[in-house]
Amino acid sequence: MANIKKFKVFRFDSAQDKKARFETYKVEWIPGQTVLDGLNYIRDNIDGSLAYRSSCREGVCGSCAMHINGKYCLACEQQLKVMPEKIIIRPLANLEIIKDLYVDMTPFWKKYKAIKPYLIGKESITGKERIQSQDERAHLDKVIDCILCASCYAACGMNALNDEYLGPAALAKVNRFYLDSRDHAKDERLAMVADEQGVFRCHTMFNCQVACPKEVDPTANIANLKRNIVSSQMSGRLSKKGV
Ligand code: FES
Repeated sequence: MANIKKFKVFRFDSAQDKKARFETYKVEWIPGQTVLDGLNYIRDNIDGSLAYRSSCREGVCGSCAMHINGKYCLACEQQLKVMPEKIIIRPLANLEIIKDLYVDMTPFWKKYKAIKPYLIGKESITGKERIQSQDERAHLDKVIDCILCASCYAACGMNALNDEYLGPAALAKVNRFYLDSRDHAKDERLAMVADEQGVFRCHTMFNCQVACPKEVDPTANIANLKRNIVSSQMSGRLSKKGV
């Protein structure tokens, strides 16, 4: 007898639907398959109109992040073998739904771009190799693992309340460059997130820490920025304007 899971999937087409609904599908599966494989099964065998994102199928690209049985996670990392018979799937929150599980990531990318997610070097070393020791690289362990899946952004209660808040992913990325020995814009990075839509909007709810599939711990990264901002302000290197 075939193994069957019931997938209860959020459906909504912003181009034509007035109301969202859930639809339930019976999914045949074999050990080793994931929730993403189940969604592919639905799309290929039951309803070709089901919309969702995926690419790598191995937890690398971050595109299959969604809300599954009460938590944000990557659909391609959720083994069906260890899941209950009924699987409830919703799209990421805090982002507009385009169709079904497919959300508009534009605000997320806009905020990511705003924090200058690249190394800023001294003019004199621009274009040259920037050497980093193993110890210096070790400071970036974990935070460099962010795959920009937006699970933390969806889980964040402050993002839910405030569209302008940069959010945990962008702020963790600021800390990633702040910690990087090759970056020469430390004060600029602290200043760019020292206002009310930056780190001080974070209420340390830990939702982002729980949601992150790569254990990046955005909460700890934001706390590190807060600490360094306050110490820079106390030493007079950073103005208190806007905080
Ligand atoms: S498909 Fe790339 S992380 Fe899931």
